[in-house]
Amino acid sequence: MSTFMKVSTALACFFSVGQSLVQGDANSLLVVDLSYELHRASTFDTKLGIYNFSNIRYAVPPLGDLLFRPPQPPASNYSSINDGLDSRICPQANVGGLITSAQWDFSYITNRTLPNISYSPSPSVGSVPIPRDPRENEGCLFLDVFVPQSVLNSARTVGTFGFLSGPQFSKSGTPNAGLWDQRLALQWVQDKTHLFGGDKMQITVARGSAGAGSIIHQLTAFGGASKVASSPAQEDQAFNAFLQLANVSSLGEARAVSSDKLIYANAAQVAGSGYGFFTSGPSRDGTFVPQHPRLLLKDGKSDKSVSVLVGHNTNEGLAFAPPVRDDAGFRELETLKFPNVNQSVIDFIVNDLYPPIFNGTFGYYEQVGRTAVATTESHFTCAAYALKSAVEKSYGYVFNTPPALHVADATYMFYDPSTKSSINTTVAYILQDYLINFILHGAPDNRPDGFSSVPTYGKNANVVPINANNVTMAKDPAGNARCKWWEQVLYN
Ligand SMILES: *[C@@H]1O[C@H](CO)[C@@H](O)[C@H](O)[C@H]1NC(C)=O
Ligand SMILES: *[C@@H]1O[C@H](CO)[C@@H](O)[C@H](O)[C@H]1NC(C)=O
Ligand SMILES: *[C@@H]1O[C@H](CO)[C@@H](O)[C@H](O)[C@H]1NC(C)=O
Ligand SMILES: *[C@@H]1O[C@H](CO)[C@@H](O)[C@H](O)[C@H]1NC(C)=O
Ligand SMILES: *[C@@H]1O[C@H](CO)[C@@H](O)[C@H](O)[C@H]1NC(C)=O
Ligand SMILES: *[C@@H]1O[C@H](CO)[C@@H](O)[C@H](O)[C@H]1NC(C)=O
Ligand SMILES: *[C@@H]1O[C@H](CO)[C@@H](O)[C@H](O)[C@H]1NC(C)=O
Ligand SMILES: *[C@@H]1O[C@H](CO)[C@@H](O)[C@H](O)[C@H]1NC(C)=O
Ligand SMILES: *[C@@H]1O[C@H](CO)[C@@H](O)[C@H](O)[C@H]1NC(C)=O
Repeated sequence: MSTFMKVSTALACFFSVGQSLVQGDANSLLVVDLSYELHRASTFDTKLGIYNFSNIRYAVPPLGDLLFRPPQPPASNYSSINDGLDSRICPQANVGGLITSAQWDFSYITNRTLPNISYSPSPSVGSVPIPRDPRENEGCLFLDVFVPQSVLNSARTVGTFGFLSGPQFSKSGTPNAGLWDQRLALQWVQDKTHLFGGDKMQITVARGSAGAGSIIHQLTAFGGASKVASSPAQEDQAFNAFLQLANVSSLGEARAVSSDKLIYANAAQVAGSGYGFFTSGPSRDGTFVPQHPRLLLKDGKSDKSVSVLVGHNTNEGLAFAPPVRDDAGFRELETLKFPNVNQSVIDFIVNDLYPPIFNGTFGYYEQVGRTAVATTESHFTCAAYALKSAVEKSYGYVFNTPPALHVADATYMFYDPSTKSSINTTVAYILQDYLINFILHGAPDNRPDGFSSVPTYGKNANVVPINANNVTMAKDPAGNARCKWWEQVLYN
């Protein structure tokens, strides 16, 4: 799933290099005064005319005692000009199940070949690369700014650093720190974009996958009032497992331990999450995330001033769906996913929402397909549906060019004509036009699709299916009764 959120619908303009830019050193690379440091562009692309300001610190490094807490604005440091040339990346982690599914999902989609692997729900898959990439660093709250075009890119990545939670953790840690980091980055853009010639009323945020989910969290931030528990037992369990992996017994000790150990513990925990699971993610916390975001969207407790363009791929869930073999396996998986619900809810999921009827009426012909459809809807397309339904000025596309797996549309969106590629370039240009016109004008128009304009999602759940044969207009396949059911969040 990909989400593009535009904060204003008024006419946008390209950023132009304004007077606040000052001339730099002998290399003539520009230096900007950010009012807490001087930052010099790392590079200037003379062909495209784009300055690249790299590794701009927007928060104090979250190390030691600042770890697992909301970020702090950066301290003033004018001791020298920062050129952003130190290379660093956030701590990385591989989700183990994805490596296994990559071995079979393509031939399953193409030829319906069932995977020949044994799957068990016990949570240990994946490996933890050692040695680690030397650029990995916990203190990775940085932004890159490209002028005249500005691209926003910040995150502590999936994993433990930004998303520990639960009663035990919360005694001295802040849940959802990753969302607070992202919020501070968005605030930084509001405060500083004019220094790069930008207009703070014309900001577009674009993210895919878990990042698209984080945009939903930003739209529903602080959305309700009630304080609700999330899954305290599971969250405490994950927190304690993390402490164990880091070989410490408290959050205080974790803050004092070396970065290497924490980076390893994070990678090990995510890798060992089990096929179809991640361990870490946002949780209800009574403030930033007062309720499940789908409920907040349904109840109108979200930002109304934005327009959104939301895309999903047809087979979003396949890579995250373990190949279960029978009814018992399907039930066991759903119970693991929703550990706190009553049996009646699980019964409804397995008997009514995704019943064992394999003649295609429900979009599947065997258990692997059934699990994939259930995962696609519960984790991805019903979230996209909830967002598109909640925002008045929303647009949607459904990317269905085979294999249309999770994040498949990104390859087309970032297609570069100067590189060799076998993809359908018409499809690529349609997606690129949608994105560029959404950024410029707040609507995903283009010429190659043949429509005079793309209608808003509206009551009819209008979307543009984009496949390898044609580009049409249709009702969103996620605009169905099952997504209405998932929207009630009876399962958490
Ligand atoms: C200020 O920035 C310089 C250059 O990036 C760095 O070497 C120094 O450690 C910084 N000072 C503080 C107090 O962070
Ligand atoms: C921007 O500059 C950084 C630091 O030199 C470099 O690593 C990065 O590749 C550059 N990005 C582009 C798109 O040129
Ligand atoms: C699908 O089956 C055909 C015919 O057996 C084979 O040539 C092709 O490689 C298979 N494709 C995949 C992705 O497995
Ligand atoms: C399935 O995997 C097993 C164990 O790796 C192997 O012995 C068997 O030949 C495979 N079956 C098929 C049909 O590929
Ligand atoms: C864990 O900590 C204990 C006590 O500090 C130490 O003896 C042990 O070597 C550590 N184990 C690992 C794997 O770091
Ligand atoms: C589970 O069922 C019990 C008894 O019927 C009910 O009181 C409770 O609210 C239900 N819990 C959920 C999460 O639906
Ligand atoms: C599929 O099976 C169900 C239950 O037996 C039946 O009601 C339905 O008509 C069947 N659909 C098709 C397309 O065969
Ligand atoms: C590429 O996609 C477009 C839009 O779906 C379609 O009209 C065209 O036939 C496709 N081209 C090829 C070579 O498949
Ligand atoms: C568009 O392509 C899809 C997938 O191949 C096909 O099912 C549908 O009939 C086509 N629609 C039109 C209007 O050609």
